[in-house]
Amino acid sequence: MKVRIIEMPLDYGASRRGADMGPSAIRLAGLRDKLNSLGIDSDDLYPPIAIPPQEYIDPASELPVDGAKHLGPILDACGELAQNVESVLKAGDFPLILGGDHSIALGSLAGAASAHAETGKRIGVLWVDAHGDFNTTQTTPSGNIHGMILAASCGFGIPELTGFYTGKRKVDPANVCYIGVRDLDRGERALMKEAGVTVWSMSDIDRNGISKTVAEITRHFRENVDTVHVSFDIDAIDPRFAPGVGIEVPGGLTYREVLFLMEEMANTGMVSSADMVEVNPVHDIRNSTAKMAVNLIGRLLGETVF
Ligand code: ARG
Ligand code: MN
Ligand code: MN
Ligand code: MN
Repeated sequence: MKVRIIEMPLDYGASRRGADMGPSAIRLAGLRDKLNSLGIDSDDLYPPIAIPPQEYIDPASELPVDGAKHLGPILDACGELAQNVESVLKAGDFPLILGGDHSIALGSLAGAASAHAETGKRIGVLWVDAHGDFNTTQTTPSGNIHGMILAASCGFGIPELTGFYTGKRKVDPANVCYIGVRDLDRGERALMKEAGVTVWSMSDIDRNGISKTVAEITRHFRENVDTVHVSFDIDAIDPRFAPGVGIEVPGGLTYREVLFLMEEMANTGMVSSADMVEVNPVHDIRNSTAKMAVNLIGRLLGETVF
Protein backbone atom coordinates (compact mmCIF):
# COMPACT_ATOMS: atom_id res chain seq x y z
CA MET A 1 0.00 0.00 0.00
CA LYS A 2 1.11 3.52 -0.81
CA VAL A 3 0.07 6.56 1.17
CA ARG A 4 -0.93 9.63 -0.78
CA ILE A 5 -0.67 12.81 1.23
CA ILE A 6 -3.23 15.40 0.17
CA GLU A 7 -2.75 18.86 1.65
CA MET A 8 -5.96 20.80 2.13
CA PRO A 9 -5.03 24.24 3.50
CA LEU A 10 -8.60 25.45 3.99
CA ASP A 11 -9.67 27.44 7.03
CA TYR A 12 -12.91 29.03 5.85
CA GLY A 13 -15.03 26.60 7.87
CA ALA A 14 -13.93 27.93 11.28
CA SER A 15 -14.06 31.28 13.09
CA ARG A 16 -10.50 31.16 14.29
CA ARG A 17 -8.28 31.33 11.20
CA GLY A 18 -4.91 29.62 10.90
CA ALA A 19 -5.76 25.94 10.35
CA ASP A 20 -4.74 26.59 6.74
CA MET A 21 -1.15 26.36 8.01
CA GLY A 22 -1.77 22.87 9.37
CA PRO A 23 -0.36 20.99 6.37
CA SER A 24 2.95 22.93 6.48
CA ALA A 25 3.26 22.43 10.21
CA ILE A 26 2.63 18.68 9.94
CA ARG A 27 5.07 18.39 7.05
CA LEU A 28 7.74 20.33 8.98
CA ALA A 29 7.13 18.11 12.01
CA GLY A 30 8.52 15.23 9.97
CA LEU A 31 5.65 13.42 8.31
CA ARG A 32 7.63 12.18 5.30
CA ASP A 33 10.48 10.95 7.53
CA LYS A 34 7.95 9.11 9.68
CA LEU A 35 6.43 7.38 6.66
CA ASN A 36 9.88 6.57 5.26
CA SER A 37 10.92 5.07 8.59
CA LEU A 38 7.91 2.77 8.41
CA GLY A 39 8.86 1.70 4.90
CA ILE A 40 5.75 3.34 3.48
CA ASP A 41 5.96 4.70 -0.05
CA SER A 42 4.54 8.23 -0.12
CA ASP A 43 6.62 9.48 -3.02
CA ASP A 44 3.98 10.42 -5.58
CA LEU A 45 3.00 13.79 -4.27
CA TYR A 46 -0.29 15.43 -5.06
CA PRO A 47 -0.14 19.20 -5.37
CA PRO A 48 -1.85 20.84 -2.39
CA ILE A 49 -5.45 21.80 -3.13
CA ALA A 50 -5.38 25.45 -4.22
CA ILE A 51 -7.42 27.64 -1.88
CA PRO A 52 -7.91 31.25 -2.95
CA PRO A 53 -6.98 33.80 -0.29
CA GLN A 54 -9.98 35.74 0.97
CA GLU A 55 -9.02 38.83 -1.05
CA TYR A 56 -9.42 36.87 -4.31
CA ILE A 57 -12.83 35.40 -3.55
CA ASP A 58 -15.90 36.82 -5.25
CA PRO A 59 -17.85 38.46 -2.40
CA ALA A 60 -21.09 37.06 -3.86
CA SER A 61 -19.94 33.50 -3.14
CA GLU A 62 -18.96 34.58 0.38
CA LEU A 63 -22.49 35.50 1.44
CA PRO A 64 -23.78 33.22 4.17
CA VAL A 65 -26.24 30.87 2.49
CA ASP A 66 -28.92 30.11 5.06
CA GLY A 67 -26.37 30.59 7.83
CA ALA A 68 -23.50 28.59 6.28
CA LYS A 69 -20.49 30.90 6.10
CA HIS A 70 -18.11 30.76 3.11
CA LEU A 71 -20.14 28.01 1.48
CA GLY A 72 -18.93 28.77 -2.07
CA PRO A 73 -15.17 28.48 -1.52
CA ILE A 74 -15.62 25.44 0.74
CA LEU A 75 -17.66 23.58 -1.88
CA ASP A 76 -15.10 24.43 -4.58
CA ALA A 77 -12.12 23.17 -2.60
CA CYS A 78 -13.95 20.08 -1.34
CA GLY A 79 -14.95 19.18 -4.89
CA GLU A 80 -11.30 18.97 -5.87
CA LEU A 81 -10.42 17.06 -2.74
CA ALA A 82 -13.22 14.54 -3.31
CA GLN A 83 -11.90 13.78 -6.80
CA ASN A 84 -8.38 13.21 -5.52
CA VAL A 85 -9.52 11.02 -2.63
CA GLU A 86 -11.66 8.97 -4.96
CA SER A 87 -8.86 8.38 -7.45
CA VAL A 88 -6.33 7.48 -4.74
CA LEU A 89 -8.72 4.87 -3.32
CA LYS A 90 -9.52 3.50 -6.74
CA ALA A 91 -5.80 3.03 -7.34
CA GLY A 92 -5.72 0.90 -4.18
CA ASP A 93 -3.80 3.49 -2.18
CA PHE A 94 -4.42 5.26 1.13
CA PRO A 95 -5.46 8.93 1.04
CA LEU A 96 -4.11 10.89 4.00
CA ILE A 97 -5.73 14.30 4.07
CA LEU A 98 -4.06 17.09 6.01
CA GLY A 99 -6.38 19.93 7.03
CA GLY A 100 -7.37 22.55 7.31
CA ASP A 101 -10.41 22.90 9.48
CA HIS A 102 -12.88 20.03 9.76
CA SER A 103 -15.04 21.26 6.85
CA ILE A 104 -12.54 19.46 4.59
CA ALA A 105 -14.10 16.14 5.65
CA LEU A 106 -16.97 17.01 3.32
CA GLY A 107 -14.57 16.32 0.45
CA SER A 108 -12.84 13.32 2.05
CA LEU A 109 -16.09 11.54 2.84
CA ALA A 110 -17.59 12.32 -0.56
CA GLY A 111 -14.55 10.87 -2.33
CA ALA A 112 -14.41 7.84 -0.06
CA ALA A 113 -18.15 7.16 -0.29
CA SER A 114 -18.01 7.38 -4.04
CA ALA A 115 -15.03 5.02 -4.37
CA HIS A 116 -16.42 2.44 -1.93
CA ALA A 117 -19.90 2.54 -3.47
CA GLU A 118 -18.41 1.12 -6.65
CA THR A 119 -16.90 -1.86 -4.89
CA GLY A 120 -19.95 -2.31 -2.67
CA LYS A 121 -17.99 -1.73 0.55
CA ARG A 122 -19.93 -0.48 3.57
CA ILE A 123 -18.08 2.50 5.03
CA GLY A 124 -17.78 3.32 8.72
CA VAL A 125 -16.51 6.61 10.13
CA LEU A 126 -14.54 7.15 13.33
CA TRP A 127 -14.96 10.79 14.33
CA VAL A 128 -12.33 11.65 16.95
CA ASP A 129 -13.40 15.06 18.23
CA ALA A 130 -14.33 17.18 21.23
CA HIS A 131 -17.30 18.24 19.11
CA GLY A 132 -20.18 16.62 17.28
CA ASP A 133 -19.91 18.59 14.02
CA PHE A 134 -23.57 17.62 13.68
CA ASN A 135 -25.21 21.01 13.36
CA THR A 136 -27.37 22.15 10.48
CA THR A 137 -28.06 25.70 9.43
CA GLN A 138 -31.12 25.40 11.70
CA THR A 139 -29.16 24.49 14.83
CA THR A 140 -25.73 26.10 14.38
CA PRO A 141 -24.78 28.74 16.96
CA SER A 142 -21.94 30.00 14.73
CA GLY A 143 -22.73 29.49 11.05
CA ASN A 144 -19.35 27.76 10.76
CA ILE A 145 -19.42 24.87 8.33
CA HIS A 146 -16.82 22.80 10.23
CA GLY A 147 -19.54 22.33 12.86
CA MET A 148 -22.00 20.89 10.31
CA ILE A 149 -20.00 18.53 8.18
CA LEU A 150 -20.75 15.15 9.71
CA ALA A 151 -24.48 15.92 9.84
CA ALA A 152 -24.31 16.90 6.18
CA SER A 153 -22.44 13.70 5.28
CA CYS A 154 -25.16 11.71 7.07
CA GLY A 155 -27.87 13.47 5.06
CA PHE A 156 -28.93 16.30 7.39
CA GLY A 157 -28.83 19.96 6.39
CA ILE A 158 -28.99 22.11 3.29
CA PRO A 159 -29.00 20.33 -0.10
CA GLU A 160 -25.78 22.07 -1.20
CA LEU A 161 -24.02 20.07 1.53
CA THR A 162 -26.08 16.88 1.78
CA GLY A 163 -26.17 16.30 -1.99
CA PHE A 164 -22.58 17.38 -2.52
CA TYR A 165 -20.57 15.46 -5.15
CA THR A 166 -22.56 12.20 -5.18
CA GLY A 167 -26.11 13.56 -5.01
CA LYS A 168 -26.79 11.36 -2.02
CA ARG A 169 -25.95 10.49 1.57
CA LYS A 170 -22.30 9.58 2.13
CA VAL A 171 -22.50 7.57 5.35
CA ASP A 172 -25.17 5.69 7.25
CA PRO A 173 -25.30 7.32 10.72
CA ALA A 174 -25.55 3.82 12.22
CA ASN A 175 -21.94 3.34 11.07
CA VAL A 176 -20.61 6.54 12.67
CA CYS A 177 -18.67 6.22 15.93
CA TYR A 178 -17.52 9.16 18.01
CA ILE A 179 -14.84 9.30 20.66
CA GLY A 180 -13.66 12.26 22.75
CA VAL A 181 -16.92 14.18 22.64
CA ARG A 182 -17.45 16.73 25.41
CA ASP A 183 -18.98 19.83 23.83
CA LEU A 184 -22.28 19.54 21.99
CA ASP A 185 -24.79 22.24 21.13
CA ARG A 186 -28.34 21.55 22.26
CA GLY A 187 -29.81 21.18 18.77
CA GLU A 188 -26.99 19.06 17.38
CA ARG A 189 -27.23 16.72 20.35
CA ALA A 190 -30.91 16.12 19.63
CA LEU A 191 -30.15 15.51 15.95
CA MET A 192 -27.36 13.06 16.79
CA LYS A 193 -29.78 11.05 18.93
CA GLU A 194 -32.41 11.11 16.20
CA ALA A 195 -29.86 10.08 13.55
CA GLY A 196 -28.61 7.14 15.62
CA VAL A 197 -24.86 7.77 15.66
CA THR A 198 -22.92 6.03 18.44
CA VAL A 199 -21.07 8.23 20.92
CA TRP A 200 -18.34 7.19 23.32
CA SER A 201 -18.09 10.38 25.38
CA MET A 202 -15.38 11.40 27.84
CA SER A 203 -17.67 10.10 30.59
CA ASP A 204 -17.71 6.65 29.00
CA ILE A 205 -13.92 6.63 29.12
CA ASP A 206 -13.96 7.76 32.77
CA ARG A 207 -16.33 4.93 33.56
CA ASN A 208 -14.85 2.09 31.53
CA GLY A 209 -11.31 3.09 30.71
CA ILE A 210 -9.75 3.57 27.31
CA SER A 211 -9.04 -0.07 26.50
CA LYS A 212 -12.62 -1.28 26.98
CA THR A 213 -13.97 1.76 25.14
CA VAL A 214 -11.69 1.26 22.16
CA ALA A 215 -12.51 -2.45 22.10
CA GLU A 216 -16.20 -1.58 21.82
CA ILE A 217 -15.51 0.79 18.94
CA THR A 218 -13.40 -1.69 16.96
CA ARG A 219 -16.01 -4.39 17.56
CA HIS A 220 -18.73 -2.08 16.26
CA PHE A 221 -16.78 -1.58 13.03
CA ARG A 222 -15.84 -5.24 12.63
CA GLU A 223 -19.46 -6.28 12.99
CA ASN A 224 -21.06 -3.65 10.80
CA VAL A 225 -18.82 -2.32 8.02
CA ASP A 226 -16.12 -3.33 5.55
CA THR A 227 -13.86 -0.30 5.69
CA VAL A 228 -13.30 2.73 7.93
CA HIS A 229 -12.44 6.39 7.41
CA VAL A 230 -10.78 7.97 10.46
CA SER A 231 -11.40 11.70 10.82
CA PHE A 232 -9.13 13.02 13.55
CA ASP A 233 -9.86 16.51 14.91
CA ILE A 234 -6.82 17.29 17.04
CA ASP A 235 -9.02 19.19 19.55
CA ALA A 236 -10.15 15.78 20.81
CA ILE A 237 -6.88 15.76 22.75
CA ASP A 238 -6.82 17.75 25.97
CA PRO A 239 -5.39 21.24 25.31
CA ARG A 240 -2.78 20.59 28.06
CA PHE A 241 -1.15 18.27 25.54
CA ALA A 242 -2.30 19.78 22.26
CA PRO A 243 -2.46 23.59 22.47
CA GLY A 244 -2.27 24.17 18.72
CA VAL A 245 -5.99 23.94 17.95
CA GLY A 246 -8.80 26.22 16.83
CA ILE A 247 -11.12 25.58 19.76
CA GLU A 248 -9.69 24.50 23.12
CA VAL A 249 -12.03 22.33 25.16
CA PRO A 250 -10.64 21.22 28.54
CA GLY A 251 -11.25 17.72 29.82
CA GLY A 252 -10.09 15.82 26.75
CA LEU A 253 -8.24 12.65 25.84
CA THR A 254 -4.64 12.25 26.90
CA TYR A 255 -1.88 11.86 24.33
CA ARG A 256 -1.42 8.25 25.49
CA GLU A 257 -5.11 7.49 25.01
CA VAL A 258 -5.17 8.70 21.42
CA LEU A 259 -1.95 6.88 20.52
CA PHE A 260 -3.56 3.68 21.82
CA LEU A 261 -6.74 4.41 19.88
CA MET A 262 -4.75 4.77 16.65
CA GLU A 263 -2.80 1.56 17.33
CA GLU A 264 -5.98 -0.39 17.87
CA MET A 265 -7.58 1.07 14.75
CA ALA A 266 -4.50 0.00 12.79
CA ASN A 267 -4.90 -3.50 14.22
CA THR A 268 -8.38 -3.81 12.73
CA GLY A 269 -6.81 -3.70 9.26
CA MET A 270 -9.96 -1.88 8.14
CA VAL A 271 -8.79 1.73 7.91
CA SER A 272 -8.52 2.86 4.29
CA SER A 273 -8.37 6.66 4.55
CA ALA A 274 -7.88 9.39 7.17
CA ASP A 275 -8.06 13.12 7.88
CA MET A 276 -5.87 14.99 10.35
CA VAL A 277 -7.56 18.33 10.95
CA GLU A 278 -7.73 21.51 13.01
CA VAL A 279 -3.98 21.73 13.76
CA ASN A 280 -3.58 25.48 14.22
CA PRO A 281 0.08 26.60 14.31
CA VAL A 282 -0.91 30.11 15.44
CA HIS A 283 -1.78 28.68 18.84
CA ASP A 284 0.82 25.92 18.98
CA ILE A 285 3.91 25.78 21.16
CA ARG A 286 7.03 25.02 19.11
CA ASN A 287 5.03 22.84 16.71
CA SER A 288 4.36 20.29 19.47
CA THR A 289 0.77 19.66 18.37
CA ALA A 290 1.85 19.03 14.78
CA LYS A 291 4.46 16.56 16.08
CA MET A 292 1.71 14.71 17.93
CA ALA A 293 -0.24 14.61 14.69
CA VAL A 294 2.74 12.97 12.96
CA ASN A 295 3.06 10.35 15.71
CA LEU A 296 -0.67 9.61 15.61
CA ILE A 297 -0.52 9.14 11.85
CA GLY A 298 2.45 6.80 12.35
CA ARG A 299 0.48 4.63 14.77
CA LEU A 300 -2.57 4.61 12.51
CA LEU A 301 -0.35 3.34 9.71
CA GLY A 302 1.07 0.50 11.78
CA GLU A 303 3.95 1.92 13.81
CA THR A 304 4.61 0.00 17.03
CA VAL A 305 6.94 0.80 19.92
CA PHE A 306 8.54 -2.61 20.08
N1 ARG B 1 -20.41 23.27 17.73
C1 ARG B 1 -19.69 24.45 17.39
C2 ARG B 1 -20.22 25.05 16.07
O1 ARG B 1 -21.08 24.51 15.45
C3 ARG B 1 -18.21 24.15 17.27
C4 ARG B 1 -17.83 23.22 16.16
C5 ARG B 1 -16.37 22.91 16.18
N2 ARG B 1 -16.00 22.08 15.11
C6 ARG B 1 -14.75 21.74 14.84
N3 ARG B 1 -14.55 21.00 13.78
N4 ARG B 1 -13.74 22.12 15.59
O2 ARG B 1 -19.77 26.09 15.68
MN1 MN C 1 -5.16 31.74 4.64
MN1 MN D 1 -14.36 18.67 14.32
MN1 MN E 1 -13.50 19.80 17.28
